[in-house]
Amino acid sequence: RGKRAFIAGVADDNGYGWAIAKSLAAAGAEILIGTWVPALNIFESSLRRGKFDESRKLPDGSLMEITKVYPLDAVFDSLDDVPEDVKTNKRYAGSSNWTVQEVAESVKQDFGSIDILVHSLANGPEVTKPLLETSRKGYLAAISASSYSFVSLLKHFLPIMNPGGASISLTYIASERIIPGYGGGMSSAKASLESDTRVLAFEAGRKHKIRVNTISAGPLGSRAAKAIGFIDMMINYSLANAPLQKELHAGKLIINGTEEVGNAAAFLVSPLASAITGAVVYVDNGLNAMGVGV
Ligand code: NAI
Repeated sequence: RGKRAFIAGVADDNGYGWAIAKSLAAAGAEILIGTWVPALNIFESSLRRGKFDESRKLPDGSLMEITKVYPLDAVFDSLDDVPEDVKTNKRYAGSSNWTVQEVAESVKQDFGSIDILVHSLANGPEVTKPLLETSRKGYLAAISASSYSFVSLLKHFLPIMNPGGASISLTYIASERIIPGYGGGMSSAKASLESDTRVLAFEAGRKHKIRVNTISAGPLGSRAAKAIGFIDMMINYSLANAPLQKELHAGKLIINGTEEVGNAAAFLVSPLASAITGAVVYVDNGLNAMGVGV
């Protein structure tokens, strides 16, 4: 049978999660999606109304099928962690079983197992603030949503991942180089995510024969990136300075060769990459290799 993938962090057709879903679907995988609870209604109704049909198109002309969409809030591990105001919040009260543990249980009940786990989510409430102006609360929230969320997802999904499976997350070069504007502790969160990729590769590899890698992606004008405010500048900077002068796309429409992050993810979670684990793989047109701007 084909592989089954759970992709956390898709709420529209503009981001890297969508691109990865498409590349995995094109390679024959069954697609399950975890969508942030507050974004669930609009995502599901847009899907139903055919708003994404154009961007669901795969290279063979068929449309990507999403077998099931699960509500997910990856900052909560189990129901005990959810504060009362969130429980009673209108947008949350309408759905259930959206903590990480409950989603893993639901997927187990529905499908038994998965082969591929994708983490394509991040959130930093103070991302527009410099680190020196970031509050403790904002910093910890960035780490919780953007790094621990991966630890938690892997921890809860590992028992239902078939040996030989793999996981992948998305990181950004602000973890290792100074990128002014990527604030609020988000640079720290990406550094944690990359370090955890190594430690988790060891633990999940030894325990379950599961590989763990992360893609350091170049700039993309996704919804999350637009909220940071400097994305157009970063795209232009990359166009001007990277070894390869082209934009990265998220596979919204099929333009040959432009779904590079999705395709790299599909490679990394496939048997073709069976000896690659604990790695940070750059899919950024080579920008990371530059020492100075040109
Ligand atoms: P996106 O907006 O498509 O994806 C972020 C997703 O995270 C959204 O669907 C949002 O609903 C979800 N999310 C936020 N908080 C959540 C929570 N608590 N629980 C569950 N879901 C939650 O944007 P993008 O940019 O494609 O982001 C995907 C990943 O790619 C992120 O890790 C991001 O940091 C990374 N990345 C993005 C780059 C860019 O330039 N756009 C560059 C390098 C990495």
